[in-house]
Amino acid sequence: MAQPTTTDALRQQALESLAAAADQSALDTWRAEWLGRSDGRITTMLRSVKDRPPEQRAEFGQAANRLKGELEAALAEREDVVNAREFARLSTEGAIDVTLPGRPQRRGRLHPVTQTMRDCVSAFADMGFRVVEGPEVEWSRYNFDLVRIPEDHPARDMWDTIWMESSRGEDDRQMLLRTHTSPNQIRVMERMQPPIRVIVPGKCYRQEATDATHEWMLTQIEGLAVDEGVRLSDLKGTLYEFARCLFGEERRIIFHHSYFPFVEPGIEMAIDCFICRGSGAECGTCHGTGWIEILGGGMVHPEILENMGYDSEKYTGFAFGLGIERVALLRWGIEDIRRFYQNDLAFLSQF
Ligand code: DAH
Repeated sequence: MAQPTTTDALRQQALESLAAAADQSALDTWRAEWLGRSDGRITTMLRSVKDRPPEQRAEFGQAANRLKGELEAALAEREDVVNAREFARLSTEGAIDVTLPGRPQRRGRLHPVTQTMRDCVSAFADMGFRVVEGPEVEWSRYNFDLVRIPEDHPARDMWDTIWMESSRGEDDRQMLLRTHTSPNQIRVMERMQPPIRVIVPGKCYRQEATDATHEWMLTQIEGLAVDEGVRLSDLKGTLYEFARCLFGEERRIIFHHSYFPFVEPGIEMAIDCFICRGSGAECGTCHGTGWIEILGGGMVHPEILENMGYDSEKYTGFAFGLGIERVALLRWGIEDIRRFYQNDLAFLSQF
């Protein structure tokens, strides 16, 4: 092919051949021929600037650069035309049905237990409790001994859970998946001084014959307040306010006396059963009691305060442990706690 001598002639030749390119592969060939980086014609032309007589170099170089810009713009424009034509062809031939509705994207959402956890956390946070976290794999000393559950205590059997092989000593029964969040009372008191007001949310694990209200994995929030003059009435007030936030004014709550080794006195808080509305008898959800327990608590045992180096004559504290799945059950009237962890999207997407 005879080389046109002026850039005008070159431009004309390039544009004519571009106009003839009717599909993507012809456009690619054209691009390689004219704008290709190693031996495209414009590239070669730019490279030849240095072979020109010195007085022509500037003008020739500018003209070549201008031409390069023009051809790039022309290519982009031509590509739009070719693509639009190709799209029109495909749609008339029915290969793409542009009237077909798109596939909806399913939006994810928070798990009902996560939603409930967040609401519980904010209820306490609004009352001035600070959120801290502790390990799920716990030393048995923290999980049991330091909260006054000795080796021969029945709770150890009741909760006997998943033990870790410990690399740190003879006794491979030293670490376990925590059975409750209460070891964090100790962890918090070890590193903080009164006044203390914290909550510790997290997962716990138990040896459990599962049923409608018991799962082997559960989520708890531990609460702890230690200061001068903290009383049982402060605990009750805090828990009333929490229940009001989560369940509204009308929901009935009851406090019972109860026993936990790490508090004295101990209490339990229960909410009226939404299935039988307190009529009891055959109800499988509340086991005939009319109430569903959601929380244990009490006044921190003075021995624990003393062990932590606090003067138990000066400081008193309350603690509680709340079961989040139970709260979620009560909130939405869900009949079986096991549904939360069966990964059934039809169930989970209702909340
Ligand atoms: N840790 C107890 C449990 O999991 C719940 C509990 C009871 C926590 C009383 C407390 C408490 O802090 O004072 O069953």
